[in-house]
Amino acid sequence: MPAHYKRGSEILDSRPIGIFDSGVGGLTIASEVMKILPNETIIYFGDTARVPYGSKSKETVTKYSRQMVNFLKDSGVKAIVAACNTVCANSLDKLLEEFDIPIIDVLNPGVSSCLDATRNNVVGVIGTEGTIKSGAYEKALKAAKPGIIVYSKACPLFVPLSEEGWTSNSVANITTEIYLQELIDKEIDSLLLGCTHYPLLIECISRVVGGITIINSAVSVAGSLKEFLTENNMLSESRESPEHEFYVSDDTVKFRRTCKSVFGRDFTATQIDIEKFI
Ligand code: DGL
Repeated sequence: MPAHYKRGSEILDSRPIGIFDSGVGGLTIASEVMKILPNETIIYFGDTARVPYGSKSKETVTKYSRQMVNFLKDSGVKAIVAACNTVCANSLDKLLEEFDIPIIDVLNPGVSSCLDATRNNVVGVIGTEGTIKSGAYEKALKAAKPGIIVYSKACPLFVPLSEEGWTSNSVANITTEIYLQELIDKEIDSLLLGCTHYPLLIECISRVVGGITIINSAVSVAGSLKEFLTENNMLSESRESPEHEFYVSDDTVKFRRTCKSVFGRDFTATQIDIEKFI
């Protein structure tokens, strides 16, 4: 069956969806996509050799993102989820300018969920240094709701902790307490996780913030992908269960361990040379 075929007036598109991140963070998005789009096949790339992106310059993040988009395009995907806030905050405009493939961002869905959640209009945003420095969340939140008060905080150690699988031990707990106390003191009622790695630390974060509403935008990102595919007649209706593929730029062992804890099952992963995709 061809990738695109017609049934009645509908166009069905069985090509895979590409998802990329600097490492394991985008798996939190892939997991939600699998839940609400069970017929879709995912090709995932995690740039584990070059993580973290959060401390790198805009130019470097753009160069790396370009390579990942090229890899996924060459793999024949129909749309790409840029499952990395650092990329969306710094390089999305450039990617949209350079590529004609649809690219779904992770920033706007998080902003909408945060606006829906807040009651006192005092919110916290946490993310990488690159995301917080860009001011992208603060700008988007204030543009949508001018009276909102936004406190932002970079939490760079959350990324290596997640990559290491140290998501609920004493080091993760104390790090979370140190990072988040100042936001709690500002009486925020909602905390937006502006990095796709952070939901991996949800246990620690929930314990530390108590009654504050945590916004994990993975659910809304998956929703916006579904909406996009539906509106553009690009959904796959294949009855066969999808065979997802996972690629990384470094050793696969730690990546597969995180896959197992996120999906509750084993997946194989393949190491590739991302530098070849200029
Ligand atoms: N997961 C990414 C994000 O959402 C990047 C983290 C990093 O590599 O620093 O920002």
